Amino acid sequence: MMAAINSSGRRFQLAGGSLSTLPFSRRMQSAQRRLRLLAGLVLLAFVAMHLVNAALGLVSIQAMEQARPLLQLPWRTMPGLVLLSAAALVHGVLGLLAIARRRSLALSRTDWLQIVLGLVTTPLLIDHILFTQVFSLVDAEFKPDFGLLLAAYWHYVPANALLQVLAVVAVWVHGVVGLYTWLVLKPAWRRLGLVLTPLFFILPVTALLGFVQGGKDAMARLAAEPDWQAAIAASMARFAAAKAQMDALRSLALSVYGGLVLVAFGVLLSRVLRNRQRKVDVRYDGGLHGQGRPGLSLLEISLASGVPHAHVCGGRGRCGTCVVAVDAGAANLSPIGSDEQATLARIHAGEGQRLACQARLLGDTVCVTCLRPAYVDVTAARDPVGWTAASTASVPSQATP
Ligand code: HEM
Ligand code: FES
Repeated sequence: MMAAINSSGRRFQLAGGSLSTLPFSRRMQSAQRRLRLLAGLVLLAFVAMHLVNAALGLVSIQAMEQARPLLQLPWRTMPGLVLLSAAALVHGVLGLLAIARRRSLALSRTDWLQIVLGLVTTPLLIDHILFTQVFSLVDAEFKPDFGLLLAAYWHYVPANALLQVLAVVAVWVHGVVGLYTWLVLKPAWRRLGLVLTPLFFILPVTALLGFVQGGKDAMARLAAEPDWQAAIAASMARFAAAKAQMDALRSLALSVYGGLVLVAFGVLLSRVLRNRQRKVDVRYDGGLHGQGRPGLSLLEISLASGVPHAHVCGGRGRCGTCVVAVDAGAANLSPIGSDEQATLARIHAGEGQRLACQARLLGDTVCVTCLRPAYVDVTAARDPVGWTAASTASVPSQATP
């Protein structure tokens, strides 16, 4: 049993066992979430360094090239390449697993945005990866520096310049939403946010402006320097000569990826359709009633039934704002997992309290009291005890949905 401290400062035991006695699958899920986050952060660091490099296009193509050894070449060393490839593989696979594991399509808009932008990243980036990474492995003479890249995008295949812009927007928004939803719950965000929030906007905007200015410079150089134009044309011809192989690689990669995405959504859909005849009930304080399929979390049932229910972290088990007191039917809920235990301890949850986003209703019915009003924001998540004391003193009647 895991010890925690409730709001009156008394130590108590959380039901569900210690971390080591939790079922293996639960511990795995928790480890996978952390690994997905870590891999996402590695990818985001790579993308951020890439964008800084692109932003230098506002100075000159030469400045972009001069900064490249510092900003990009570390990722092309063997350890850098292994780290980046492993992060991409691990994050992509765990991202698809997270989709397959969902049991309901009742997602917040942020979650939909996060999933859709994550999924479109691969098709949007595939041509860029083939051009800048894969072909130079096949042809050692091919040097995809910024001059070649900008000339290729703005002169030879302008449609890919548009794809590139879309890719930057999709990858950046996806990564930054992930980073923000994780960091915003931490007390350190109050200070960290002052630095990071402007960067979230400045970095992609300057990178896109650098990409446009660099493109203009490359076009001017193509017109003014016949030797450079001939060298670029020769490189493009080498790439064009390998078009059949590159097309085959692209088709293979996209088919495998598309297949995995279909499997993930197939599993999700089969979960949604399974058991849809059988209904389970949640009775809330204040007379509200929610209904759903067995296996859905209490939060999923609330959202699907239109019952207002706080869920600041979007159901990731991090914020604690969805906490409920289970008044009856606790045995009908799934056991507590390690993430839930940790968050319950952090918010000083009392005995018999559960996170609605983690507790799944397996039996017929459960009666709960929502302990946070539906309107809570990150303030309640960062300082659960202080916030609860302040809010119950000022608006006691709104503490239920
Ligand atoms: C360079 C590309 C990418 C970057 C920088 C990136 C970054 C991130 C970050 C920082 C997070 C938050 C981590 C977390 O909360 O666990 C995240 C979450 C996620 N990513 Fe990515 N990601 C990228 C590509 C992808 C791709 C290709 C996929 C799809 C296969 C994907 C699917 C997901 C999913 C499903 C989530 C979690 C959403 C949820 O919590 O339900 N990501 N990503
Ligand atoms: S919604 Fe954040 S912990 Fe449940």
